[in-house]
Amino acid sequence: MASSRLFGKTIVLGICGGIAAYKAAALASLLTKRGAIVRTVMTRGATEFITPLTLQSLTRQPVYVDVYDERDPGQITHIALADAADLVVVAPATADLIARAAQGSAGDMLTAVLLATRAPVVLAPAMNVHMLEHPLVVRNLAVLEGIGYTVLQSGVGALACGYTGRGRLLEPEEIAESLEMQLTPKVLAGKRVLVTAGPTRERLDPVRFLSNDSTGAMGYAVAQAAWRAGAEVTLVSGAPDRKAPLGVQVVAVESARDMLSQVSERMADSDMLVMTAAVADYRPVAQEPRKIKKNESDLTLSLTRNADVLMQVQAMRKPGAIVVGFAAETHDGDFYAREKLRKKSLDVLALNNVLEPGAGFGEGTNRLTLYFRDGRVIPLDLAEKLDVATNLIEQVAGLYC
Ligand code: CTP
Repeated sequence: MASSRLFGKTIVLGICGGIAAYKAAALASLLTKRGAIVRTVMTRGATEFITPLTLQSLTRQPVYVDVYDERDPGQITHIALADAADLVVVAPATADLIARAAQGSAGDMLTAVLLATRAPVVLAPAMNVHMLEHPLVVRNLAVLEGIGYTVLQSGVGALACGYTGRGRLLEPEEIAESLEMQLTPKVLAGKRVLVTAGPTRERLDPVRFLSNDSTGAMGYAVAQAAWRAGAEVTLVSGAPDRKAPLGVQVVAVESARDMLSQVSERMADSDMLVMTAAVADYRPVAQEPRKIKKNESDLTLSLTRNADVLMQVQAMRKPGAIVVGFAAETHDGDFYAREKLRKKSLDVLALNNVLEPGAGFGEGTNRLTLYFRDGRVIPLDLAEKLDVATNLIEQVAGLYC
């Protein structure tokens, strides 16, 4: 498992009285597994749906409901909880809690903690679609956003009330990802980052293509790390079946030519391009409109060169933009890394030796060595791809200073 920003952090988890409260148990478990100290505060309504003992068992921490339930004479519980929090998340946040929080009420333990804390607050609303769209709820959420709360957009789908629409509580993994983002230093705040990922497919006919072993995992990890670091991220992907990272816009492409056109379209507006894609260097000279039928003789394919995306888009760079290339090599890595850095006019070249155990295509881990235009060479540790990507983003973002 990749390392988590939640490790060792105290998270106050507020749970309100809605049917989605049952999902809060899974969230509490997930946050605890990532090493967070989860201190749960439930409204009275929440206890109608799920018991404090469930949360206490999952988090191995005391659970709070009643604001007058003072167990330790040495402290005032709602103030102690508010002060201990590195982050407060309310999931699900109901219309009632949102209204009371927007008014500055402090009549129960959860609103009292919200009012007393200086920690960042994240709300994950869940309710009927008509309630969520009601002008009063919209206004109350705007008030809370106005004072710096982060309001996560609810999911769309079948609601417990029988309606279909927006109002579902986000999945625990998505809420956890938002919290990871909250706790990540914003080294790319205000930046637009373009990432490419995966293989390209070069069509022979409607049912066949030439491609390679790239799975897109490294590119998806880079996109996720850039989003966590505060960037607006677009991922041009030749592996669109992968689950899109939260907050990242995915543009699906098939061929190297598609990839070139999608990258070119966005290049002038991007502050960074990270080309992790394994772009095919060649494509069949002819793409047959109908399936190629076999016969008794051998078949020879003629291939023609694809344009190099990195070379083509250099001239479209926005002033100050950073361009990062990747090189997957099996031998003489240092030599090829330096050559590609120079030939492709890159700011950074990330070299990975695909024959090294733990660093090949389809592995959960990777090891990169970063070659900078200014001559620095920084080897990164072998680690989970998301950790390697986080490290890469931090190193590369340093070039903006
Ligand atoms: N690249 C690209 N366009 C291509 C081929 C590669 O933009 N048509 C990019 C890759 O995304 C990567 C970098 O160039 O960031 C290096 O790719 P690689 O395939 O390792 O190098 P090549 O230049 O293709 O050289 P070779 O295949 O000879 O190793």
